[in-house]
Amino acid sequence: MDEARWIAVDQYFERTLGLSDPTLEQALAASRAAGLPAHEVAPNQARMLQLFAQMCGARRILEIGALGGYSAICLARVLPADGELVTLEANPGHARVAADNIAKAGLADRVRIMVGDARASLARLREEDGDPFDFAFIDADKASNPFYLEATLALSRPGTVIVGDNIIRAGRIVDAAAREDADVRGVFEFFEQLGADRRVSATALQTVGEKGWDGFALARVL
Ligand code: DHB
Ligand code: MG
Repeated sequence: MDEARWIAVDQYFERTLGLSDPTLEQALAASRAAGLPAHEVAPNQARMLQLFAQMCGARRILEIGALGGYSAICLARVLPADGELVTLEANPGHARVAADNIAKAGLADRVRIMVGDARASLARLREEDGDPFDFAFIDADKASNPFYLEATLALSRPGTVIVGDNIIRAGRIVDAAAREDADVRGVFEFFEQLGADRRVSATALQTVGEKGWDGFALARVL
């Protein structure tokens, strides 16, 4: 373990690859000033999400868990002008910060923030019967991951790409006793579903970086 080096390497990637800019820096600063937890994706992860969305030609993106809107800004930036990102946020204070950050990034016209319990918002999206989502990022309370996966699949089509954030839980994902923890159990059941569900092909990767030991799951609807 050498967390200082992991951070230095992430910062090197950020500088060398130009992964940040004043708009993103301002969004992060506003989130910190408002007291939001520093749970945003790292800049290199944000670019990875952008690349995944672009690789699947995403015109409609679902995000579960907006926080201060950092990943929403990054993903909305790669949408076509008539594309839409729908982001769900349970915390009204977080949603206000996200709305402000997204507006300052000039993306309010293609981002819809649905405030409230994501389960209700997902049910509403199903009732609306809109086009399926092309790309989805599941990054909210991990205890609800099994529900979010099922709901996302119901709003998907063959080819939809789904990314699930923070699926390592400090390695406790392989510790049966840790499943008393609702978040660990949620991610564990999410993996069981991904492995058993014949509608998806899925993998998962562990990462190190400025967010410590972390990782993400990647799935494609068949
Ligand atoms: C946590 C949640 C996140 O979405 C994240 O990216 C990092 C940490 C958390 O709840 O600890
Ligand atoms: Mg996350």
